[in-house]
Amino acid sequence: MAKPEFIARQSAHPTGLFGHLVARVMAFDTAGANRRLLQRLDPKPGEAILELGCGHGRTLRQVSAKNAPGLAAGVDPSGVMLRVARGHLRRGLASGQVRVAEGDAAHIPHADESFDKAFTVHTLYFWVDLRAGFQELHRVLRPGGELILGFHDGADPALHEELPDSVYTLHTAEEVAAALEAEGFHDITSAIDEKTGLTFAHARR
Ligand SMILES: C[S@@+](CC[C@H](N)C(=O)[O-])C[C@H]1O[C@@H](n2cnc3c(N)ncnc32)[C@H](O)[C@@H]1O
Repeated sequence: MAKPEFIARQSAHPTGLFGHLVARVMAFDTAGANRRLLQRLDPKPGEAILELGCGHGRTLRQVSAKNAPGLAAGVDPSGVMLRVARGHLRRGLASGQVRVAEGDAAHIPHADESFDKAFTVHTLYFWVDLRAGFQELHRVLRPGGELILGFHDGADPALHEELPDSVYTLHTAEEVAAALEAEGFHDITSAIDEKTGLTFAHARR
């Protein structure tokens, strides 16, 4: 069934009271994809890890339970999402192990080479410029750092029926790999996860 445009817009840029509801539904909707992501990410104690488009913050909380005393940092452009995330991340924020900040793929408010790993799930469709986002992720990752992307592969024609193209820019795995390579990433692989149908791409800085 096609996603109504106003719900699609709220998924991309949650605002107001409805945005709070979207945040709750989204956490439930994307839980399976983020579980699979966490298995791939395999956070280790002491690693500094960035989630771009952290939304509700539930995945970041799971990361912080595993990478302590390392930093678990979330970045998101939506004020509503940041408020919801801060609610879920109170303990980590108080101890300083978790940080959450406003930003987006083109403006990540962190210093060069500050993370061992970075990931993003279901956000690529909303980036204004894929290459600008990968340039930023390349900048904030340390040499050898790992990037993991979870996204719907735009090669699937059914997705174009389901997700309004006025809101979603669906990239194919090949386009994503080419943009990663152009921004200096290497060891790029991508595969469809059989449990969720999501494509996961891995790359090294
Ligand atoms: C569908 S939600 C996914 C949230 C979370 N990653 C998850 O898997 O549940 C999309 C998120 O991307 C954020 N977003 C929108 N545009 C973005 C951009 N240009 N860069 C980074 N995040 C963005 C939204 O604010 C929202 O929190």
